[in-house]
Amino acid sequence: MKGKKTITGFSKLSKRGKIKWMVENFFKDPETVISELQSYWHSNEEQQKILDNFSENTISNFPMPFGVAPNFVINGETYCIPMVIEESSVVAAASAAAKFWMDRGGFKTEVISTVKLGQVHFIWHGDGSKLQYYFNNIKKVLIEECFTFTESMVKRGGGIMDIELIDLTEKQKGLYQLRASFETCDSMGANFINTCLEQFSKSLKSYFHFSKDFVGDEKNIDIIMSILSNYTPECIVRASVECSVDKLGKFPHGMTAEDFAAKFYMAVKIAELDPYRATTHNKGIYNGIDAVVIATGNDFRAIEACGHTYAAKDGQYSSLSHCEVKDNYFKFWIDLPLAVGTVGGLTSLHPIAKRSLELLGNPNARELMSIIATAGLAQNFSALRSLVTTGIQQGHMKMHLQNILNQLKATKDEEVAALDHFAEEIVSFSAVREFLKQLRLN
Ligand code: MEV
Repeated sequence: MKGKKTITGFSKLSKRGKIKWMVENFFKDPETVISELQSYWHSNEEQQKILDNFSENTISNFPMPFGVAPNFVINGETYCIPMVIEESSVVAAASAAAKFWMDRGGFKTEVISTVKLGQVHFIWHGDGSKLQYYFNNIKKVLIEECFTFTESMVKRGGGIMDIELIDLTEKQKGLYQLRASFETCDSMGANFINTCLEQFSKSLKSYFHFSKDFVGDEKNIDIIMSILSNYTPECIVRASVECSVDKLGKFPHGMTAEDFAAKFYMAVKIAELDPYRATTHNKGIYNGIDAVVIATGNDFRAIEACGHTYAAKDGQYSSLSHCEVKDNYFKFWIDLPLAVGTVGGLTSLHPIAKRSLELLGNPNARELMSIIATAGLAQNFSALRSLVTTGIQQGHMKMHLQNILNQLKATKDEEVAALDHFAEEIVSFSAVREFLKQLRLN
């Protein structure tokens, strides 16, 4: 059955044609699959067309829960944060952290920088010092010749900030890099940056070709590629919470606030020290971040890739969040690279992304950076709070129980009985199945 057939011209088939070919070749129950896929089509054809056009070969929609976490106080403003996530405990954890910090001054954020980067790589075998000598001239030409593309961004307060020449010839014969920095205001800026970079490549080629500064073989330049860098270590937002240790409150099993603060601090320290723990720790942070990034129509792969590189910036992969407990005072913060936009891209095309942004009060990019970083910190706080107190399974399994009950088609009454029973028992699929079996026998 696997890989049974290949096809040419698949993308030219109609949506129904694509489905027909797929179900006939890869499914045992084609009719059921067709009706299942169709059941997820949007009832409004126009809306469906919008979704279809996001990608190639769309045959249906893939539903994911769209939830909200209320009570987030960020810099004194209250937010209800939209989250798209399939993991059952994430929205609950975010909401719990929001509520916890709401009574303790809320979250504070600060946008530290907003620089985005792009690169043009090229091979040139001339005298490097000569290239350095003429580079200021070249830079001027590159910026001038890009003006048609940058004009409106410049009007909005952004544009090209600088272009550096980086000599990589010691690592690879003839290899150079243009590293350009951009301010893209409220847009994520990927298209803008890539357009500018491709223009730089053209200008660079023609500069070498026509300029009298370079002669003979020096005119030969080979552009390898022009593309933005998703690593933006100069596009940073800090989110933090703090309060005196005694204000942290009471914890399960008689744990004092001092004990909690000390254990919490140690949990963060472990993630700072050990890449194995740091990976899980940061994964928890991205549970919160990705959920908001997706809900607001931004690119979660770019955000994750950047964050993990940033987590390794000092030579070893480490925690993105940090904690300090000093003089009876608890501080917990995160510095995150977040290149996001609130205009352009999916943000204005995806109907729910548009609503998510509206729910957040139509933030600008800097505000959205703050909100997303807060969601990451909140998620991390809740995860560590559970880990150093009750353990994670209690909360996880409570949510998981509901999924198991749905899967086993439990009635409302059975659900109530199961929730009551498993409040004190360990949840597993087989334990729940056995519990329902006994219940159904009686
Ligand atoms: C699960 O998705 C995330 C956690 O593992 C994060 C962590 O361990 O810090 C709970």
